[in-house]
Amino acid sequence: MSQSLNIRRTAGALGAEITGVDLSRDLSDPVIAAIRAALVEHQVIFFRDQSLSPAEQGRFGARFGPLNIHPYVAGMADYPAVMEVIKEPQDKTNFGGGWHSDMSFLARPSIGSILYAVEVPAFGGDTLFASQAAAFEALSAGMQATLEGLNAVHGASTQYGPGGISSRKRSSMVIAEADGLEGEFVHPVVLIHPESGRKALYVNPAFTLRIDGWTARESRPLLDFLFQHSRHEAYTCRFNWAPGSVAFWDNRSVWHYALNDYPGQRRHMRRVTVDPWPEAVATAVAAE
Ligand code: SIN
Repeated sequence: MSQSLNIRRTAGALGAEITGVDLSRDLSDPVIAAIRAALVEHQVIFFRDQSLSPAEQGRFGARFGPLNIHPYVAGMADYPAVMEVIKEPQDKTNFGGGWHSDMSFLARPSIGSILYAVEVPAFGGDTLFASQAAAFEALSAGMQATLEGLNAVHGASTQYGPGGISSRKRSSMVIAEADGLEGEFVHPVVLIHPESGRKALYVNPAFTLRIDGWTARESRPLLDFLFQHSRHEAYTCRFNWAPGSVAFWDNRSVWHYALNDYPGQRRHMRRVTVDPWPEAVATAVAAE
């Protein structure tokens, strides 16, 4: 099986398509290791023409780490770690429709997310990805050194707090309002990837609230600069979905953005999110 794994880069900054593997099968350790190595190298990897039940998607995801149960978005009744991302024709907003890194608002943010397409619109509904490693590497040495000395506070309040962007109602998704219980956690502004050693910016518009030790007002100009810089076209790639497509992205070095350009059409995806192994956990500390 590992001999038939074929990996083709799809863009300059990040992204590769993998063929020759059936993700519904109980894959061997060498195949999983090859997929993991491709994920770390290419930051987001794509598969086509898969057929995954929720159980099979969960089994595949669990080979990379414990599956996350989202604190605010309800999972499937029989598979709580499998989240259905659905936009119905009558819904105005979509889930994930802004640049972000999944779960950076947790003490132990996820390492990756695996999204499987069940039903896609006739056009539109692409997902965009941006390499935060490429974004970091494009900065001057002086700016890099400054950022490496900083930490940032992350939290879910603007997304999942009362009236938050992500907690807006969608017909087929159950999303709870965090109601002040969400907490705040501190992560380095520049994350050193634990598997590759490559440095990447680790702040995002959805969940980064301020620079640690700075007020929100003091943080705004620097964060605005980084948010603008980090989504430059040169650091991005884009994935056009078909039923059976899978994208697996590395949340430690990638932002993503679900484009909402298909009004009146249905889009139905399933996501599992992979947490770090307990021994790989790190440095996140609860903020005051
Ligand atoms: C997400 O942010 O996980 C959703 C991405 C997508 O639906 O394309």
